[in-house]
Amino acid sequence: MSGTLPLLDQIFEKLDHIPNFPETAQKALRLLQKEDVDFRELETVIRHDAAITANFLKLVNSAAFGLRNKVNSLLQAFSLLGINQIRFVLIASCSGKYLNRPLKGYGLTPQEVWLHSLACGLMAEALASRAGLSKPENLFTAALLHDIGKIVLDLFVEGEMEVIRDIIEKNPDLTFMQAEWMVLGADHAIVGAELLRRWEFPKEVYFAIRAHHDETLMLQSKIAALTALANTLTNLMGFGAGADVFAYEIPEELLEKAGVREGDLYPALIETFERTEALKTALFA
Ligand SMILES: [Fe+2]
Ligand SMILES: [Fe+2]
Repeated sequence: MSGTLPLLDQIFEKLDHIPNFPETAQKALRLLQKEDVDFRELETVIRHDAAITANFLKLVNSAAFGLRNKVNSLLQAFSLLGINQIRFVLIASCSGKYLNRPLKGYGLTPQEVWLHSLACGLMAEALASRAGLSKPENLFTAALLHDIGKIVLDLFVEGEMEVIRDIIEKNPDLTFMQAEWMVLGADHAIVGAELLRRWEFPKEVYFAIRAHHDETLMLQSKIAALTALANTLTNLMGFGAGADVFAYEIPEELLEKAGVREGDLYPALIETFERTEALKTALFA
């Protein structure tokens, strides 16, 4: 479609204005990769960022993490959580900065965007253990940030909404994403992947984000399959994010690539639903 390229350039140019993923989190994630994690060192790094620290404590004190007593310090939280849970909460504590906001173009409230992302992260956590993934850090990042491209594309969707709606009205078989692609020459998966590539996350992470709506690409890596599966199950649970729904049927090959058995899906859904409801109460009540 002619005239798409300048718009695509504008979209990619906007990526430069998104604040970098916090250095504190990157440092902390590196410390968490060590065999023996030094909690005091980890605390010193995280405490440096007051916003991340506050979010961390808010998240772990929600019933979603099942701690018996309220924790007031990072050290106390670390001693009660497993390493993978610390990783999860850390990445989640940073993603609110990007995702806890309204997306007017997509017609989404902050609650819809943020809760969808957190629910997808929690679902990924539930699937990771069932899929026998020993190092789920990349999966957590991909799942929590899978829709981050929407924060950039939103500005453009808003401006072109009438054109997109018009295309869908005239071609009812097209999905929102297909119409979005026709008008903007990009979708939120490709834009989000580019952002994470610029933030120097591992390729495994940005590939999974790139692939989360692409039925062929999502079968090319275990992390991509798990991210796409987590997103679909999140929508199935009713924590959707507007135009993100692509299919309610879960292809057999997707389960196979993800390493998840069909019988694991229902328990994962129940567990994640309850945890997401708990987060919803803690964050939005
Ligand atoms: Fe998406
Ligand atoms: Fe999504």
